[in-house]
Amino acid sequence: MEGVQLRHHNAEEAKEILDQLVGLYLEVYAGGGEFHSEDRYRRQLDLHMQRAGWELVTAKVDGSLVGYIYGFPLPPETRWWEGIHDPVPPGFTDEDGTRTFAISELMVHPAWRRRGIAAALHDELLAAQEERRATLLVRPENAAAQTAYRSWGWTKVTKLQPGWENAPTFDVLVRTPAYERELD
Ligand SMILES: CC(C)(COP(=O)(O)OP(=O)(O)OC[C@H]1O[C@@H](n2cnc3c(N)ncnc32)[C@H](O)[C@@H]1OP(=O)(O)O)[C@@H](O)C(=O)NCCC(=O)NCCS
Repeated sequence: MEGVQLRHHNAEEAKEILDQLVGLYLEVYAGGGEFHSEDRYRRQLDLHMQRAGWELVTAKVDGSLVGYIYGFPLPPETRWWEGIHDPVPPGFTDEDGTRTFAISELMVHPAWRRRGIAAALHDELLAAQEERRATLLVRPENAAAQTAYRSWGWTKVTKLQPGWENAPTFDVLVRTPAYERELD
């Protein structure tokens, strides 16, 4: 993509651009209510950035942050799957630290959408992962993201409602590597 620079950051490096990460989140989710508050998002980032293997990919245009994606491998004792709806295949939520890479956030500034930036961020982050599958949560009514994920090879497995107060119900999406998808 012309003029768009992608870059990987570990948690240590990401701390240097923390305010930019929060700033873009607030622009993308402006008017989204209490859940999308600055306070809550700073706490989320602080927690997630402590996870082993946490990784961020940013997209910049002329030095300005226009989008990013981040995630981390699920550890053996994870609470990620709490609130999952039945039925799921046996052992679906079993984790060993190398099975699942969880994508937590993907966002692109409204002025920079529909140019393939999210697709590029997604491919760049997942290409670097060695886990056997990736997962993410998406709101059923998030048409843009739902369409994007389906076109990138993600499949809905079930739904999940996290334990926090007033939590919405999300679709649980999973993606396996291309060579496994071809076997299905
Ligand atoms: C979802 C989001 C990250 C997509 O970013 P983007 O850079 O515009 O995405 P891309 O340009 O890479 O688009 C990839 C594909 O997604 C689909 N898509 C993206 N926006 C869409 C829309 N508004 N309506 C329908 N399909 C859409 C299309 O299939 C698109 O491919 P195409 O442009 O060739 O048709 C962006 O809309 C966003 O930041 N939304 C708010 C945050 C969010 O919801 N994040 C996901 C949370 S799970």
